[in-house]
Amino acid sequence: MEPSRLEVLITADTIARRVAELGRQIDADYPPAEHLLLVGVLKGAWIFLADLARAIPRSVSVDFLSTSSYGKERTSSGEVKLVRDLDESIEGKHVLLVEDIVDTGITLSYLMRVLGQRQPASLRIATFLDKPSRRKEAVEIAYRGFEVPDKFVVGYGLDFASRYRNLKDLCALRDGHV
Ligand code: IMP
Ligand code: MG
Repeated sequence: MEPSRLEVLITADTIARRVAELGRQIDADYPPAEHLLLVGVLKGAWIFLADLARAIPRSVSVDFLSTSSYGKERTSSGEVKLVRDLDESIEGKHVLLVEDIVDTGITLSYLMRVLGQRQPASLRIATFLDKPSRRKEAVEIAYRGFEVPDKFVVGYGLDFASRYRNLKDLCALRDGHV
């Protein structure tokens, strides 16, 4: 894993405590006994979603979608497309959109628009990370794990060139923003 390239920003223990808190907060915010649908944005959100789902002490179901931005740049090019849609209808459901990181905000503002048109009972965002310094489009974040500085981060689901997703700690790549 070339550990010398990696600088630990948030340890696995700190992440676990924060995710447990988020789970309790989410459970407290929704009407008791309402079923919650967690929608994970693949692939980055898979580990956060797996932990968050188990931290919410009520009935939840999960579904997934994935997006891609046109172009090959490291950051969102500004145009997003849905490359994998949900299996089920979200009409009338309480939907919590679960994402790894809000960077420019372009992906999530697109998804909020698309999913918002499908008449969910409610639609909110839970993101593991927030990098507000790079925001281009405003998004309302209901649940945020941590704010991170403008560094390229990997681990706990987040990748660089498809690698590092399985790191337990959240790390920054030392050679800066790639
Ligand atoms: P946005 O549309 O710019 O908000 O970008 C969202 C997507 O870019 C995230 O879901 C991530 O997949 C990816 N991304 C943005 N910043 C990072 C990072 O620091 N590490 C890994 N992936 C990132
Ligand atoms: Mg992503």
